Amino acid sequence: MPILDDRIFEFFSHSPAQTRRLGVHLGGYLRPGDVICLEGNLGSGKTTLVQGIAQGWGAVDPVSSPTYVIVNEYRRPDAQRLYHLDAYRLENALEAEILDFDRMLSQGSIVIEWAERIKAALPKSYLWIRLVYTAMEHRNMMLSPEGKRYEVMVENLRRKIYGDF
Ligand SMILES: Nc1ncnc2c1ncn2[C@@H]1O[C@H](COP(=O)(O)OP(=O)(O)O)[C@@H](O)[C@H]1O
Ligand SMILES: [Mg+2]
Repeated sequence: MPILDDRIFEFFSHSPAQTRRLGVHLGGYLRPGDVICLEGNLGSGKTTLVQGIAQGWGAVDPVSSPTYVIVNEYRRPDAQRLYHLDAYRLENALEAEILDFDRMLSQGSIVIEWAERIKAALPKSYLWIRLVYTAMEHRNMMLSPEGKRYEVMVENLRRKIYGDF
């Protein structure tokens, strides 16, 4: 559990569209080498958020759930890549070592569903997002930056969404 502090941004989504919009903002910030980790149960909105992230990033490919392939790759006209991982079927971090994070990070950004399953294999800084189902259309999202790069990203996002006050 992250310690609750002012670097953490808590967002209350009231609809799938709102979750996608949060993702669009986030996707706009992504640069090659960035990692976003998503933690949350089935139906908590991880893939919905990724749809927004891919849109904001500029993907020309549609987002689909990668549950059966582990990694989906989305393209952009400038040859950068967005890798969409689903660690659901990975048993542990050892299995995640077949994933070549270094290669992916040199070519683009990574977003990982069920990241908690492969925590030991993850790069050491990332933006961690925990999604929780709170009601039919309500999801609580806790964005916890791990590393300076993501602290800045979260602060920019907070300002964009709520303004300076
Ligand atoms: N506020 C919300 N944010 C995201 N999804 C929501 C929200 N409200 C309802 N939903 C619905 O919940 C489901 C989330 O599914 P999905 O994004 O595939 O979750 P996961 O990838 O975590 O299993 C979708 O059917 C979506 O329409
Ligand atoms: Mg999913």
